[in-house]
Amino acid sequence: MIHYSVPFIGKEEEAAAAAAIANKKIQGEGVICKEAEAVLSRVLGGAFAYLVTSGTHALELSLMALEIGRGDEVICPSFTFVSTANAILRQGARPVFCEIEDRTLNIDIDDAMRRVTKKTRAIIPVHYGGLSCDMERLIREASRKNIHVIEDAAQAIGAMFNGRPLGTFGDLGCLSFHSTKNITCGEGGALVVNKRSLCEAVQIGREKGTNRFLFLEGKIDKYTWIDVGSSFVISDVLAAVLLGQLKKIDFITERRRVICSRYADAFEDIAKEGYIKIPQPDKRSTGNGHIFWALLDKGISRKDFIEDMKKAQVECTHHYVPLHSSPFATKHLGYRKEDLPVTEDIAARLVRFPVHPLMSDSDTDKVIRAAKSLFGKEAVCRRR
Ligand SMILES: Cc1ncc(COP(=O)(O)O)c(C=O)c1O
Repeated sequence: MIHYSVPFIGKEEEAAAAAAIANKKIQGEGVICKEAEAVLSRVLGGAFAYLVTSGTHALELSLMALEIGRGDEVICPSFTFVSTANAILRQGARPVFCEIEDRTLNIDIDDAMRRVTKKTRAIIPVHYGGLSCDMERLIREASRKNIHVIEDAAQAIGAMFNGRPLGTFGDLGCLSFHSTKNITCGEGGALVVNKRSLCEAVQIGREKGTNRFLFLEGKIDKYTWIDVGSSFVISDVLAAVLLGQLKKIDFITERRRVICSRYADAFEDIAKEGYIKIPQPDKRSTGNGHIFWALLDKGISRKDFIEDMKKAQVECTHHYVPLHSSPFATKHLGYRKEDLPVTEDIAARLVRFPVHPLMSDSDTDKVIRAAKSLFGKEAVCRRR
């Protein structure tokens, strides 16, 4: 079976975690955490990077740092992981869902901007599969309206727009190191801070609302309660694993990119004939190969496709169930399924193909052969 996702993690990370344990340095904000943050900052072109316990917590901390709360609205796509919307709700603010566009499955900027009201404080673009929307335009339009941008870059480490790393465009960027992500420490994340003025609020929020970070830096002799906060500091054991992964990031990203471009080349003709849609990123986008997806033609059953691929020993999966039509959003936020028709259509037709560095070229070819036999002209004829 060619699995959808397998973390590229091994002996180096095992040794790094064991060394951290042997040193008895297992809590957070230690030497290893600082080192991993410094390396991450370099990957991000020098942005401030704070490790946290998950991508979810990075999102929560970002909204806390911007003091978004009751009465505020935050725009985000409905086609995203639940954490994007939960983070907004946990602050007492209201998520306003917008459409995505079918070339990258990122927010449709025009639709997002139409939803801006006097209450809008922020917009959260989600860099689906490690590709972004036109981030330069989004930042321009948001700043014209005085709206913060928080990038949900959970899937986007190593990806760029116009040569600039994703996660470094908005006021804040949120990364995930969950085991399905390109680099991982099992569960973990980082908050990228692109405005120096927000660093203190982020550090206080991450450390239970205290100024413990100043105490650890030897700048004060005891720390105290400053603000509302939570416990988002990551253990040095996990930071050690992440540091090992950061050393491999170039290899991982490159290998994933190669697999995605083999898929893109192989499926191009079928896409041109209209049987499927595949990613059509902006020329300025450099993806990180996180996801390769296709939107199946309406005549092809996704359920059958996934089952048939499984019979061919290839694990394909669907993805997000739209948030606006979920039981929670219909009951508590007053949304109806028909409010976001593009999102509904895309979410129902999406399949994701296996991408991970342990896949060989012959594995990739096997996936391509199996898929082509199911969604090309031939397959449609067979179905009829
Ligand atoms: C778009 C998006 N946002 C946020 C998250 C949450 O990240 P984590 O699982 O690290 O909490 C994920 C995780 O899959 C995600 O895909």
